[in-house]
Parts: sequence; C-alpha cells; structure tokens
Amino acid sequence: MSKVAYVNGRYVPHRRAMVAIDDRGYQFADGVYEVCEVFRGALIDERRHFERLSYSLSELRITPPLREGALAIVGREILARNKIDNGYIYVQVTRGAAPRDHIFPGPSVRPSLVVTARHVDPAKGEQLAKKGVSVITMPDIRWKRADIKSISLLPNVLARERARQSGAYEAWLIDDAGMVTEGAASNAWIITESGAIVTRGLDHAILRGITRTTLIEIIKAQGLTIEERKFGLDEAQRAREAFVTGATALIMPVVRIDGKPIGQGKPGPTALKLRALFHDFAARTA
Ligand code: PDD
Repeated sequence: MSKVAYVNGRYVPHRRAMVAIDDRGYQFADGVYEVCEVFRGALIDERRHFERLSYSLSELRITPPLREGALAIVGREILARNKIDNGYIYVQVTRGAAPRDHIFPGPSVRPSLVVTARHVDPAKGEQLAKKGVSVITMPDIRWKRADIKSISLLPNVLARERARQSGAYEAWLIDDAGMVTEGAASNAWIITESGAIVTRGLDHAILRGITRTTLIEIIKAQGLTIEERKFGLDEAQRAREAFVTGATALIMPVVRIDGKPIGQGKPGPTALKLRALFHDFAARTA
C-alpha cells in the first residue's frame, strides 16, 4: 500500500510529499513536533499531546497552523488513509518557508504543517520489554530549553547513534552537575531500594513527557511513592529497577546502565506492572 502524508493542506503520496528548500525547518531547525501513539485504532493521550504542541509553538512564537479540532481531523484522516491501527502519528510544524534570514519572516509567511503516520507492531515492544534494554550515559550537550519539543535534535541523534553502536537502546544524558536529565528520546526513571519511584522534576532541562505525566497519575492511583527529583548515575546503578518512558517505548525496563546490571539484571516487577496498566489508564480517543 502506498503511504499518504498531509503537507500544508493536501494529502499526497508519501514519496512525493515535499516542502520548500527554504523552509525554516530545513534551514534552521526552526520548528516543533509531536509523536502520539496509536493503539488499537485509538490515539493515546491526544489532548495532552496537543497541549504540549501549543506550548512548544507559543514558546517559539510560531503561529498554530490549524485549530486543534482541525488538526485532530487531519490526524484521523491520515490514520484512515494509511490504514493504521497501531503505531504513531508524527506532526511537525515549522515557521514556514521564506528567503534565508535568521530574523522571523513577516506575518504573511504561514507555518508549514506535515502530518504522517507509521505502523509499529505492538508485539515487538512487548518482546523487548520482557528482556529489558541497556542504556549508556553521555554528557547532555543540548541547549537549555529541552522542555520545548523542537525539531533541532542533533545532540539527541548523536547520542542515540552512539547508543546503537554500543548495542544499547537509549542514551541517558548527564548534566553538568552529574545528574541524569533524561534519555535522548525518553524520560528516565529509577526505583530505589525503599521502593520510591524517582524521575527528575520538571524544569527546562527535560521534556514534559506525556507518558511521564500519565504514569505519575498511575503511580499515585496505585498508592506507590513518586519522587520528582534529580538522581545521579551512582544512585541509578544502585537502583532496584530502572526504566524509560516515551510514546513509542511506553514503559521500557532498563536492565543495564553503562554495562552494570540493575537489580537482578532482569526487568523489574514494578516496571512490568506499570507497563501492563498503562493503556487501560491512558486516555484513548478513537
Ligand atoms: N520522544 N524526552 C525526550 C527528549 C523525547 O524525545 C521524548 C519523546 C520523551 C518522552 O515524551 P513522550 O512521553 O511525550 O513521548 C522525553 C519521541 C517519542 C520522539 O522523539 O520520537
């Protein structure tokens, strides 16, 4: 089946979908994006993804390309045209196409909007979660506004490529004070010996992960202890369990950090339990 993409008001065959070479996303990485999971035909936590998109756009002073309702319709249409039940939707908005100049273009330049979708077999993630994954650590060399879901991802790209080369699934990024910020494409979590579930508190150094937000609600509903605070590599390597969260990873148990086994070196029971609870708890919109 040939894939269909939405580009600035039109549904076009994916392989012929294009934006202008002077699009500011291409020139300056001047844009933002969202990745929303699709599970059994439903969008997971769609509202929260749209809210974060609005936040990223407003922080960069990019005009929203469509009203939220219209964007939701485009998303549904892309899923239907590509016959996708499981996978994710990708939404990218840039400041638009204009002759190259760092300064913002005038108001007549409309933002560019691209929406695509991709099939992912959920069974693959489940298999991986049963085995658990490894992470490596690297210095966090990103800019100081990681809370904005910007398409400027070069440090994340380099970190994930390094992880892949070392046979790891993810790279955890370490700030100048030696604390873990987050994964290159996920949020980072540990569970201490006393059973507290720890993830860094929200600041400009991390993305407000939607999976993170929903998981905190699940943790509270389960009567478990959540601590939103910083943790370092030492504490992580002594943890009873570790895991990462993200729209495509969901809750993925981490069994090694920089080669050192975490807990028993197998996926921890709490991470697996939270993973199993996730889709029942998260908001689903068909
Ligand atoms: N990444 N931190 C970073 C740096 C991320 O890129 C992501 C998601 C997350 C988790 O956010 P959420 O739970 O809302 O997916 C945290 C997406 C999946 C990506 O870039 O493909």
